Amino acid sequence: MQRFPEKRVAITGAASGLGLALAKYFIQQGWRVAFADIQDEEGERQVAALSLPQERAFYQHVDVTSEADMDAWLQAIVKIWGGLDILINNAGVATHGAIDQAPIEDWNWVLDINLLGVVRGCKAFAPLFKQQRSGQIINIASMAGLLHSPEMGSYNASKAGVVALSETLYGELNHLGIGVSVVCPGFFPTALATTARVTHPQVKESIERLFATSRISADDIAKIIFNAASDNDFYVLPHFTYRTTWWLKRFLPQLYLRSIRGIGKQMLSRRKKWEAELMTAEQSAANDAEQSNPNKASGDFA
Ligand SMILES: NC(=O)c1ccc[n+]([C@@H]2O[C@H](COP(=O)([O-])OP(=O)(O)OC[C@H]3O[C@@H](n4cnc5c(N)ncnc54)[C@H](O)[C@@H]3O)[C@@H](O)[C@H]2O)c1
Repeated sequence: MQRFPEKRVAITGAASGLGLALAKYFIQQGWRVAFADIQDEEGERQVAALSLPQERAFYQHVDVTSEADMDAWLQAIVKIWGGLDILINNAGVATHGAIDQAPIEDWNWVLDINLLGVVRGCKAFAPLFKQQRSGQIINIASMAGLLHSPEMGSYNASKAGVVALSETLYGELNHLGIGVSVVCPGFFPTALATTARVTHPQVKESIERLFATSRISADDIAKIIFNAASDNDFYVLPHFTYRTTWWLKRFLPQLYLRSIRGIGKQMLSRRKKWEAELMTAEQSAANDAEQSNPNKASGDFA
């Protein structure tokens, strides 16, 4: 990447999934990588496995919900490298649940990490990039930031917020020599389903099944992001299939709305089926408990 001869990249959520794949790909390309995550043991283990000097790769605990952590990371990077070329705001979590079912705590959780976490990264590092008059911010959103599947309100809103923030920053920073990219992948296999907060446990299995349909992996996406950063692309949409649906939304919005209406109907009937199965299972567990209780069986409630 000609623009950045010093090759210094900082990645949040780098202990797993896409963040780890990005870190490894940048290392392979001869970059220096600052890993950040809240999974400290795993993050430290991944960095130690690289057997590189601290100047090439180091790990720091950075919870993206903490401005203090983000500022401490900035200070450490400036101290060790004297500056930074690329910041990748990647850390994220997933949520799922219909508007009348998902608790407000899930909204707060996902918005604080996925949206405000990206805001905190941009706020901390933008002054450094402005001072350098160079740098690139890469925000990991999702196709969910452009196409809004039913029952995913909080996740969709968090990622749409990242797209909106990235477009805003492009206007604010690009003319100052600072690149901005927003990455909107579809599903690909990572640990995201494991930590997801969902109103129905079956949703995690559905997400895993969708992961399995992906024709591209986190490693493929990392390579696409590296090339997009090199070309200073703004929108980065790695999955071709979802890209066509996005075009459909922009050029034939009525057709798009009809299709999400259909998906919403299917999801509701699927959810009703799960709830009916749960009620049956609870009922038969209650019957079993009643039968195995000798007091109850004899009608003695004393
Ligand atoms: N996997 C997919 O299908 C998919 C699709 C579109 C977008 N994405 C996005 O890709 C990004 C990476 O997710 P992934 O799929 O690799 O999942 P992942 O769970 O494998 O990795 C996410 C990482 O973020 C870290 N993290 C979570 N909360 C954090 C916090 N408060 N502070 C710092 N780090 C935190 C986790 O510890 C983990 O290491 C996320 O922003 C996700 O929304 C994933």
